[in-house]
Amino acid sequence: MQTWLVVAMCVVGVSGEEFPSLITANASIAVVLDRQFLGEKYQAVLDELKDYIKELARVELKHGGVVVHYFSWTTISLKKDFLAVFSIASCEDTWSLFTRTEEEELLLFALTEEDCPRLPTDSAITVTYVEPGEELPQILLDMRTQRAFKWKSAIILHDDTLSRDMVSRVVQSLTSQIDEGATTTTVSVSVYKMKHEINEYLRRKEIQRVLSKLPVKYIGENFMAIVTTEVMTTMSEIARDLLMSHTLAQWLYVISDTNIHNGNLSSLVSALYEGENVAFMYNITDDDPDCKNGLMCYCQEMMNAFISALDSAVQDEFDVAAQVSDEEWEAIRPNKIQRRSMLLKHMQQHIATKSSCGNCSTWRALAADTWGATYRSFTETDMMAKDPGNVTTVGVIEHVTMLHVGFWRPIDAIRFEDVLFPHVEHGFRGKELPVITYHNPPWSIIKTNESGAVVSYTGLVFDIVNQLAATKNFSIRVILPSNVKYLKPNETVVGMTHNHDALVTLAAIAKGQAAIAAAAFTVLADPPPGINYTLGVSSQPYCFMIARPRELSRALLFLLPFTTDTWVCLGLGVILMGPTLFVIHRLSPYYEAMEMTRQGGLSTIHNCLWYVYGALLQQGGMYLPRADSGRLVVGTWWLVVLVVVTTYSGNLVAFLTFPKQEIPVTTISELLENRLTYTWSITKGSYLEMELKNSDEPKYTSLLKGAELRSEAGSVDSNQSPLKKQLKRTREQRHVIFDWKLRLSYLMRAEHMLTDTCDFALSVDEFMEEQLAMVVPAGSPYLPVINKEINRMHKAGLITKWLYAYLPKRDRCWKTSSVSQEVNNHTVNLQDMQGSFFVLFLGFFSASFVLLLEWLCNRRKLRSEDVIIKPYVE
Ligand SMILES: *[C@@H]1O[C@H](CO)[C@@H](O)[C@H](O)[C@H]1NC(C)=O
Ligand SMILES: *[C@@H]1O[C@H](CO)[C@@H](O)[C@H](O)[C@H]1NC(C)=O
Ligand SMILES: *[C@@H]1O[C@H](CO)[C@@H](O)[C@H](O)[C@H]1NC(C)=O
Ligand SMILES: *[C@@H]1O[C@H](CO)[C@@H](O)[C@H](O)[C@H]1NC(C)=O
Ligand SMILES: *[C@@H]1O[C@H](CO)[C@@H](O)[C@H](O)[C@H]1NC(C)=O
Ligand SMILES: *[C@@H]1O[C@H](CO)[C@@H](O)[C@H](O)[C@H]1NC(C)=O
Ligand SMILES: *[C@@H]1O[C@H](CO)[C@@H](O)[C@H](O)[C@H]1NC(C)=O
Ligand SMILES: *[C@@H]1O[C@H](CO)[C@@H](O)[C@H](O)[C@H]1NC(C)=O
Ligand SMILES: *[C@@H]1O[C@H](CO)[C@@H](O)[C@H](O)[C@H]1NC(C)=O
Ligand SMILES: *[C@@H]1O[C@H](CO)[C@@H](O)[C@H](O)[C@H]1NC(C)=O
Repeated sequence: MQTWLVVAMCVVGVSGEEFPSLITANASIAVVLDRQFLGEKYQAVLDELKDYIKELARVELKHGGVVVHYFSWTTISLKKDFLAVFSIASCEDTWSLFTRTEEEELLLFALTEEDCPRLPTDSAITVTYVEPGEELPQILLDMRTQRAFKWKSAIILHDDTLSRDMVSRVVQSLTSQIDEGATTTTVSVSVYKMKHEINEYLRRKEIQRVLSKLPVKYIGENFMAIVTTEVMTTMSEIARDLLMSHTLAQWLYVISDTNIHNGNLSSLVSALYEGENVAFMYNITDDDPDCKNGLMCYCQEMMNAFISALDSAVQDEFDVAAQVSDEEWEAIRPNKIQRRSMLLKHMQQHIATKSSCGNCSTWRALAADTWGATYRSFTETDMMAKDPGNVTTVGVIEHVTMLHVGFWRPIDAIRFEDVLFPHVEHGFRGKELPVITYHNPPWSIIKTNESGAVVSYTGLVFDIVNQLAATKNFSIRVILPSNVKYLKPNETVVGMTHNHDALVTLAAIAKGQAAIAAAAFTVLADPPPGINYTLGVSSQPYCFMIARPRELSRALLFLLPFTTDTWVCLGLGVILMGPTLFVIHRLSPYYEAMEMTRQGGLSTIHNCLWYVYGALLQQGGMYLPRADSGRLVVGTWWLVVLVVVTTYSGNLVAFLTFPKQEIPVTTISELLENRLTYTWSITKGSYLEMELKNSDEPKYTSLLKGAELRSEAGSVDSNQSPLKKQLKRTREQRHVIFDWKLRLSYLMRAEHMLTDTCDFALSVDEFMEEQLAMVVPAGSPYLPVINKEINRMHKAGLITKWLYAYLPKRDRCWKTSSVSQEVNNHTVNLQDMQGSFFVLFLGFFSASFVLLLEWLCNRRKLRSEDVIIKPYVE
C-alpha cells in the first residue's frame, strides 16, 4: 500500500510526456499480485519475485533499466506510462484487468488459475497454472478457444475412471460463455456414462449398449470419448460396427492413461478405415523428478521472457536512433501498439523455445489420415496385375498414417502444426482419386486429337466432378474402360440399358477399382450389385418427335370461307328462289289489272333461275317485275346476297393471309386417337420400354402395344443407319419417334443444320422422367459427402447452368408456328389463285360440253324434220 503511494507520486512527474521512448526513460511495469488469490503464499511470492527481478534486471538487461511497481489487488489505475502489466490473479480478475489494459493498449502477461479461458493471443499472454493430473478440462477449453474443433454439439462418452467432479469441470469447460465474442461458440453437450469393466467381453457389451442407444439424429455426431487405451480400442471397433464412424462423424479420443514411456499411439491404434474422422489427444506426461513445475517457475519464466524482449526492444531503438536525427526519430519511433506487438511476439517466441516449466505435463494431438488412403497406392499397372477378386477398396488401411497435429503445455496451450480434423477442414488433402469414365455426351465428353491421344475431358459430369475435386480437395486420375483388364461385365444383370463401355465401368466400380464413375447412369429401381447411385445429377423426360404440321393445299381456298352446309344451303336457296319468283310473278293479278303483258325475262322458270343466280353474283337482270309482290321477292334476295357476299369476301382475305395448317398431334392421347394414321417407335431395351411395361395405365399400355421396337440408334452419319431411316419415315410418312427430349433436340438441331428446314416438332407432353446419377462402389464412405456436395450444387443452380451450356441452342425451329413472319406482307400468289382458274376451266369445259349437246340436239331435230316434213314441191 505504502509502496504504491510513493510510486504513484514519483510517476506523476513523468506522465507529462505521454509515451516516452525507451531511450529517454526507463521502462516501468506493474506487477499485480492479488493477495486474495495467493492467500498465505502472498508474502513469500512477493519477496522471491522482487529479488528475482532485481537480479534479472542487473544481469540480463544490458541497456537502460526497468522500474517495477508492485500492487496487491487488480483494480489499479493504469493511467500511467506503464509498458506492461504482469498479474497473478483469479480468472475473473484477470479478465477484468485485461479489459482495462486493452483500453490503455498495454501488454498484459498473466498467470492465472486452471479452467480459465486464455486471453486473446494477439494482445496478451496467459499461463494457467495447473496441478499435474488436473489438466484435462483446461486442455478441452484450450481446444475449444483455439478452435481445434468447430462443433456446435458434442457427445461426451466416459466411464467410471473419470470422477464426478472432473466430469462437471469438463462439461463446464465446453459450455461456459466466454466474452471473447463471436469466435468461440458454446457447445451443447450430451454426457453418457459407461460402467468400467475389466473383462473384455463385458466391456464390449457395455459399450455396445451405450453406443447403440445414442439418438445421434438429435444430438449430433461429434463424439468425445474420454477413455483409457483399452476402451478406446474396443470403442472404435464397435462404433465402426454400428456404422457410427463415417465421413460425417467426428471422433476425438482423449486418452489420459498413457505417459511418455508407453505413449506410442501408432502401435495402439489397431486399424483405421477409409473415410473416418478420428483424432487423438493423449497424455505423454513424464514423471521424471527433474521436471520443473510450480508457480514460481512460471513467474520466473515469464519475467525472463519479458526482460529479454525488453532488452532487444531497447537495443533496437538505440540502433535506429543512432542512425537518424532526433526529429526523424520522433517521427519514426514505434507507437504504443507497435511496441506492444513487438514485445509480445518476442515473448511468445522466447516461451515457445526456451520454456521448460511444466514441460513434463505435455499432451500430444494426432489425427488419422484416412481419406483416400487406400487409393494412394493404387496405380493403373496395379490394377491390371492384381487378381480382380482381391481388390478391397472400402476397408482397412494397410499403412496407418498419423498426422502430427500438435503439443499441449500449460504455458502456451496447443501449438498446432496441423488441423485436428484434417478431412473436415481440407477434404482429401490433395490426394489423387481414380475416376473412371467413358464417352457419352453430353454427360462425359472425351476429346482426342488425330493421333488418338486424349486431349480433354468435359461434359456435365466432369463439371460436377471438377467442382467436387475443388471443394473436397482431391485431384483426378482418369481411367478409361479400355485400360481395365481382367473384367468381364456381367451382362445378364444390367440388361441392355447400357452399352459395353458402361458395363465395364460398372464392373470396375463394383470391384472398387475407382472411387467414382464420372458418367451418368440411369437410376434403376433394382440396381446392379456392387454399386450405389449418388444423388441424381439430371433428370431427363421423354417426349416424341413428329413431322411439323404442314400447310394445307390452297387449291380449294375459294371454298374455305364457308363450310359445306353453308354452301349446300346457299345452293338450295338459289334453286328455290327461282321457282318462287316465277310463281309469285305469274300469279300476280297486277298485270291483268293494269292490262300489261308480262314481257321477256321472268316469264319462264328457266329465266327466273338464271336471274336469281345472276343477282347472287351481283349482276342485274334486264327486266324487273312491275308488281310490288315480285319486287319484294327480288329485293329480299338482294339483301341476302349483300350479307353473303360481304361475309365471303371478308373471310377469303383472312384465309389468304393466314394459311391453314394441319391439326398438330402434341400429346400421347392425340397420338393414340390417330393411331390409324400414325406409327411410332421406341428404342428396344430402353428405360422407357421398361417403365411402359411396368405401368398399368391404359394410355401407356396401348402406347407400348402399338409401338415398333427399334434397335439402339446407330451413328447418325451413315445414310443406311436405322436412325436415318427413322428420320426419313418421320419426315415423309406419318411416323413418330419416342426418346429423351434432350436427344431429340440434338437430332432436330443436326437435321436443321443439314437441311436448313424445320421439318420436325417435339410433343408438348413430357412424361416418364429418367433419373441419371453417378455411381460409387457399394458402401463407399464418400457417398454422403458426394451427395451433400451435389445437393449444394443443385441448390446453387450450378448443375442447371452447366447443363444449359451443353444443350442445343434455340434456333428458329423452336418456334411452334412458322407463319408469323409472313403475315404482315403476304402478297397473293398463283398458289392462292389456282382455285379460281380451276373454276374458269371448269366453266369453259362445261360450256363446251353443253354447246356440244345443243349442237347434237339441233342436228337430231333437223334430221327428224327432214323425214317428217317433206317439202311440197309442185
Ligand atoms: C534507469 O535505470 C538505471 C539503472 O537501474 C539508472 O542507472 C538510470 O539512471 C535510470 N535512468 C533514468 C532516466 O531513470
Ligand atoms: C497424465 O499422465 C501422468 C503420468 O502417467 C499422470 O500422472 C496424470 O494424472 C495424467 N493426466 C491425467 C489428466 O490423467
Ligand atoms: C511407434 O511404433 C511404430 C510401430 O509400432 C514405430 O514404427 C514407430 O517408430 C514408433 N514411434 C515412436 C516414437 O516410438
Ligand atoms: C519442452 O517440450 C517440448 C516438447 O515436448 C520440447 O520440444 C522442448 O525442447 C522442451 N523444452 C525443454 C527446455 O526441455
Ligand atoms: C490377396 O492379395 C494378397 C497380397 O496382395 C494375398 O496375400 C492374398 O492371399 C490374396 N487374397 C486372395 C483371396 O487372393
Ligand atoms: C488441400 O489440402 C492441402 C494439404 O493438406 C492443404 O494445404 C490445403 O489448404 C487444402 N486446400 C483446401 C482448399 O482445403
Ligand atoms: C496428340 O496429343 C499427344 C499428347 O498430348 C501428343 O503427344 C501428340 O503429338 C498429339 N498429336 C497430334 C496429331 O496433335
Ligand atoms: C451375373 O449375375 C448373376 C446374378 O447376380 C449371377 O447369377 C451370375 O453368376 C453372374 N455372372 C457372372 C459371370 O458373374
Ligand atoms: C448401396 O448398395 C447396397 C447394395 O447394393 C444397398 O444395400 C445399400 O442400401 C445402398 N446404400 C445406399 C445409401 O443406397
Ligand atoms: C416482309 O416485309 C419485311 C420488311 O417489311 C421483309 O424483310 C420481308 O422480306 C417481307 N417478306 C416477304 C415474304 O416479302
